[in-house]
Amino acid sequence: MKGKILVTGGTGYIGSHTVVELQNAGYEVIIIDNLSNSNKNVVDGIEKITGIRPIFKELDCTDKEEMRNLFSQYPGINGIIHFAASKAVGESVQKPLLYYRNNLDSLLNLLELMPEFNIESFVFSSSCTVYGQPDTLPVTENAPIKPALSPYGNTKQIAEEIIQDTVHSGASLKSIILRYFNPIGAHPSAEIGELPLGVPQNLVPFVTQTAAGLRKELSVFGDDYNTPDGSCIRDYINVVDLAKAHVIAVTRMLENKMKKPVEIFNLGTGKGLSVLEIIQTFEKVTGVKLPYKIVGRREGDIEKVWADPEFANKELGWTAKESVEDTLLSAWKWQLHVMENN
Ligand code: WQD
Repeated sequence: MKGKILVTGGTGYIGSHTVVELQNAGYEVIIIDNLSNSNKNVVDGIEKITGIRPIFKELDCTDKEEMRNLFSQYPGINGIIHFAASKAVGESVQKPLLYYRNNLDSLLNLLELMPEFNIESFVFSSSCTVYGQPDTLPVTENAPIKPALSPYGNTKQIAEEIIQDTVHSGASLKSIILRYFNPIGAHPSAEIGELPLGVPQNLVPFVTQTAAGLRKELSVFGDDYNTPDGSCIRDYINVVDLAKAHVIAVTRMLENKMKKPVEIFNLGTGKGLSVLEIIQTFEKVTGVKLPYKIVGRREGDIEKVWADPEFANKELGWTAKESVEDTLLSAWKWQLHVMENN
């Protein structure tokens, strides 16, 4: 085995796809997840893909004693990839204290426990939301951090600062911070994918549920932005491409190839697509007409953002490879799989 990796939030959307790629790369994986926004049968899906069943413990990272017991029960963990967090922008505005408590307590517990168990390598799941509306596009890792537009975004900014300060204090910690743009799609096997509980907040799961007839129509939140077709622009990145970047990051740490104790990478395609372009592309690749209507803007949405992924491309040797066409098709295949199996 190349090493033992703890993946918090490992039954979640990006977490589960990362576990698959870690196992494919020869890592032993331990998943912890409190199942607040995911389902335990995701572990079955992972096993169906890789043939290896990861260790799974239903645990909440905010429970420090339980976390200490876990590290005692599973010695020899070489690194941690930390996904576990609440991540719905809108919900965070309604329930800020839940977001600060959950997202920051879980991080603080991990950082406090790592030295007790001689774990030094920490990959943190961050987000392009820390940039707000960038002044210039594409956005690089050196772009200024803007005041967060939501408690969710603020927890990501604060978390990054906590990591930086901890490393700066001389703690035996190294961290790679990965700032995701908009993850979409599903594993090509359709055994795992995005499983939003309740009404999807994100665009693509709402698109696939509408196409499947589970939703009456998609509401497009505004077409009066300063963009070519008036709808917002985002950098949509295939979730498997994103997962592969995590394997590269953790390997970089374990092989002591980092150039600084904290490294930050933008994980995007470098290409911006509008909401209406996503709809048009989805219709083209699936042949399914998508009912939608234009409604008012959604509070907190930024107008346009897409990555300059050059630093990740060069320094990590990683590039997003999947086309948006294949990615939307994978999302659709996954939606059909979920319906056939429910
Ligand atoms: C994309 C675009 C909407 C739904 C957020 C977080 C980010 C990450 C991904 C966690 C926007 C439009 C959406 C709908 C629509 N979260 N839209 N109708 O807001 O860019 O990013 O989710 O990791 O950190 O900030 O993603 O998918 O919600 O929206 O018109 O029903 O689609 O206005 O322009 P977002 P999104």
